[in-house]
Amino acid sequence: MWKKILLVILLLIVGLPACGLAYLYLRNPARVPPSAIKVAMTPERIARGKFIFQNLSDCDGCHSERDFARVGGPVVESGRGRGNVMSGLLNGLPGTVVAPNITPDPETGIGNWTDGEKIRAIREGVDRDGRALFPLMPYTGYRNLSDEDVESLVAYLNSLSPVKNPLPRTQLDFPVFLFIKGVPQPAGRVPSPDRSDKLKYGQYLVSLGGCMDCHTPAEKGQPIPGKELAGGQLFATTVGRVVSANITPDLETGIGKWSEEYFLKKFYDYKEYAAGAAPKAVGPGAFTLMPWLAFSQLPPEDLGAVYAFLRTIKPVHNPVETHPDAPNLTAK
Ligand code: HEC
Ligand code: HEC
Repeated sequence: MWKKILLVILLLIVGLPACGLAYLYLRNPARVPPSAIKVAMTPERIARGKFIFQNLSDCDGCHSERDFARVGGPVVESGRGRGNVMSGLLNGLPGTVVAPNITPDPETGIGNWTDGEKIRAIREGVDRDGRALFPLMPYTGYRNLSDEDVESLVAYLNSLSPVKNPLPRTQLDFPVFLFIKGVPQPAGRVPSPDRSDKLKYGQYLVSLGGCMDCHTPAEKGQPIPGKELAGGQLFATTVGRVVSANITPDLETGIGKWSEEYFLKKFYDYKEYAAGAAPKAVGPGAFTLMPWLAFSQLPPEDLGAVYAFLRTIKPVHNPVETHPDAPNLTAK
């Protein structure tokens, strides 16, 4: 009798967690079949897609070859979309994390993917085989891409020159690959934003620009609630270290004192560098991951809408030193 009870207890102790683990292993991320869409390759679509890829959403930032010896790390044109081993650049990632080759090369890129599969990966975070993508790929923000914009993006992807660049596949550590299965989400149909509503449009641009991903401090990969855009996220890379700034309207530690004009000027100071004229970066203190070059090409209406939206964020007092390795800036 006792033996039987002990056996049952033992089964419960060992069996339940095992079932839980098996469930986590077998569970699929939330996903729907990719749509059968074939995007129209019109010049307008390709131009809009190029703007989203190169400027607004800075897909270049992770998927293209970059020259970090220059201010802002401009893109090397011949390596656009070729992919990068991100864990070889950014320290602290859980395993081998690869931003894949997304040029139309059929062997090493995504040339064999359907347009529907590309749209699903970008907005919903599952790859062709239905595997959850590691959310360094900012699909939680790209989920808001309108149907029109995501189709433009795919039209541009299809127009890229194929680059042959074999890369390893992402291999995440245990248990990270189990937990990220909960991140993907079907996006459904997404209407275009109403540009006449400045705040809503600004919010749209902020989610496409990945501002939250870099500017909200995180703990174990989870954004800390109540600290939206308060900065302080450290990016330790093989090239240098940089910490994201507090861009809440806090007067002392955020950008609360910035006028719209000053905000725009900060971005437009990089305008000429974006055209390949970026000077050589001097010293470790000059390194940044803020996509200044990409964003310097946004029109004033867009940056103005971003500014307007940022004014509505809760001010958070959080002093941040953005360039910890810059000499002479602050006396420690
Ligand atoms: C901050 C870095 C980052 C940015 C910015 C980024 N990606 Fe990614 N992307 C990744 C990583 C990392 C993966 C792979 C994740 C994995 O394998 O789990 C990925 C995966 C993908 C995939 C799936 C490819 C495959 O072979 O599985 C596509 C398509 C893609 N990204 C397109 C884009 C587009 C389009 C943009 C811009 C709108 C973009 N990405 C911006 C990091 C990024
Ligand atoms: C890939 C990460 C990344 C993304 C995406 C990003 N930022 Fe940044 N940003 C940084 C880092 C790091 C800094 C601090 C270093 C610097 O100023 O270059 C910074 C600095 C800034 C500053 C300067 C603040 C100051 O006090 O000088 C502003 C303004 C800013 N970001 C706004 C934005 C906005 C708006 C977006 C989205 C449209 C955005 N950033 C997206 C990483 C990022």
